[in-house]
Amino acid sequence: MSSQRNTINLKRITRRSAFGILGIAVPSAIWATGIEPNLLSITRKELTLPHWPQALDGFRVAQLTDLHFRPGYDDALIAKACKKLADEKPDLITLTGDFVIRDPSSLPELFRALKGISAQHGVIASPGNHDRWHCSTSQLRKEIEGAGFTYLQNQGSKIHIKGENIFINGLDSIWAGRPDPRKAWQSRLKGEPVIALVHEPDPFAELHLSQPLDLQLSGHTHGGQCRVPFTHYSPAQVNFGRKFIYGHFEMNRSQLFVSRGLGTVGPRVRFACSPELAILTLRSSR
Ligand SMILES: [Fe+2]
Repeated sequence: MSSQRNTINLKRITRRSAFGILGIAVPSAIWATGIEPNLLSITRKELTLPHWPQALDGFRVAQLTDLHFRPGYDDALIAKACKKLADEKPDLITLTGDFVIRDPSSLPELFRALKGISAQHGVIASPGNHDRWHCSTSQLRKEIEGAGFTYLQNQGSKIHIKGENIFINGLDSIWAGRPDPRKAWQSRLKGEPVIALVHEPDPFAELHLSQPLDLQLSGHTHGGQCRVPFTHYSPAQVNFGRKFIYGHFEMNRSQLFVSRGLGTVGPRVRFACSPELAILTLRSSR
């Protein structure tokens, strides 16, 4: 009699547990696939850079990265990001690579959608590993420059403001390209503060020792794309994105910001790691 009662109790507990697990798993799956990948968040951060000129205190840089554009799925998200950029009016917009997932035929549509974004000191883009795997450099350059933006792949460019120069360079993808820091830094003049667009974050640990580097902007990791809520732990990790997965880092007198980016790879899922537009205000400590 008592063993029969135990069996009935066990069945009830098992059934309740199964309902409990389903009650969490189903809404989480709906959230991760249907809601969070479309929820654009804006991260506003002030970074105080030791070598940043006093005259440029308050310079605002926007960063969009890892768009991994999927036509028919990401159009509304891209449109929201463009609208936010127009509202925020940053001084400079940076695009730190991974425009495609695989198919380079999505590039013209993506850059038609992005064409409207602008900033007083321009829009500057650099490549990511997916771009270098699936697109040719000439194709990327054509689309990016066709939208009126600057494309930097192992190259530097300068912004002149209030009697100061800012040196901005873009390194080729570490994983999939031919990164050449010497070439990327060669047109910098002594004393010019440096913002480097480097798709993969991990080289920061070495780059900041070998090159003048005030701020490195990276993406690549998607912040983990799916994280354990409240812990910042992400089970998925990627080559060249294991040391710095998300956020702001400082080594010696150089700083790194790694954005969660906008898009996704693999299944279109995000969990506790929403798409991000970063607006960074650069402060001088001089
Ligand atoms: Fe990516």
